[in-house]
Amino acid sequence: MRQRVFSGMQPTGIVHLGNLMGALTNWAAMQDDHDCIYCVVDLHAITAPFEPEEMRAARTDLAKAIMAVGVDPDRSLLYRQADVPEHVELMWLLGVDATMGPLGRMTQYKEKSDKAGERFGLFAYPLLQAADILIHRVHAVPVGDDQTQHLELTRDIAERFNNRYGETFPIPDRITPPVGARVSSLQDPTAKMSKSDPNPHAMVGVFEDPDAIMKKFKRAVTDSGSEVRYDWDEKPGISNLLEIFSFFDGRSIDDLVAEYGDQMYGHLKVAVGEAVVEGLRPIRERYEALADDEVEEILSSHAARAREMAQSTIEDVKQAMGLA
Ligand code: TRP
Repeated sequence: MRQRVFSGMQPTGIVHLGNLMGALTNWAAMQDDHDCIYCVVDLHAITAPFEPEEMRAARTDLAKAIMAVGVDPDRSLLYRQADVPEHVELMWLLGVDATMGPLGRMTQYKEKSDKAGERFGLFAYPLLQAADILIHRVHAVPVGDDQTQHLELTRDIAERFNNRYGETFPIPDRITPPVGARVSSLQDPTAKMSKSDPNPHAMVGVFEDPDAIMKKFKRAVTDSGSEVRYDWDEKPGISNLLEIFSFFDGRSIDDLVAEYGDQMYGHLKVAVGEAVVEGLRPIRERYEALADDEVEEILSSHAARAREMAQSTIEDVKQAMGLA
């Protein structure tokens, strides 16, 4: 039996190499042997400061980018979270019993509330995520390390519900993305590439123009010394470049080190930039070929299907709780 999986991405900022290498490529690859449900989690994204008009564009644009990377709407379900209000309904039904302690101890909550203040949306964020996952009764969730805690919480919630009200949810496992999981900032290779980085040279957008991409790679911060070697402790800048190079070029890191080992850093940077520009070209072409009304049509029909599936879970949950 094919496993059913769910994953979500927030429509904040632009889609960058970290998203592509750490998540989206894997989303596309998983379609071969899983039943995939992918979601633009706009209701999570509004827990950070946002502008309505930017959100309106971003929630559809991210879906378009996800399709351009290879998520195929004929094989997978792809929708925007706010189009399926059952996520929020399930969050309440599961959340009433959640205790404050564990939610307050979530790393992401602590970090974000340190910066933005203790707000309910940040606090309840993992409950909504649990509802996302449980509403489709999936077996597995492909997410990065930073989501381990949220997935643990989801499993606890599902177990507690099953114990109290009877077997309702499968307990979902985490799937670690197999491909290029690690992408660092081009300006500080010890930090993750991030949309919120104030330095524009730190991050490379998937749809950025080729000249700008080349410039960013030429300016990438490298390490002291001059030897091209794969070693995250001693040479994080070069290792990051090699990781990105291998992802786009297809050759192994060992092969690349054999070829570029005694060349100057500058040569490596140009070669990586060129491989990235070349590798992004078909994604950009697919993105440009997708018409907005076509995307909108796909997303609304997928949301309708997702709602049907979600409603059947809500029905079972309400039955179990004596609410139906
Ligand atoms: N919190 C996830 C992140 O920041 C996004 C997300 C929301 C998600 N709901 C989800 C991921 C459900 C997996 C499953 O990456």
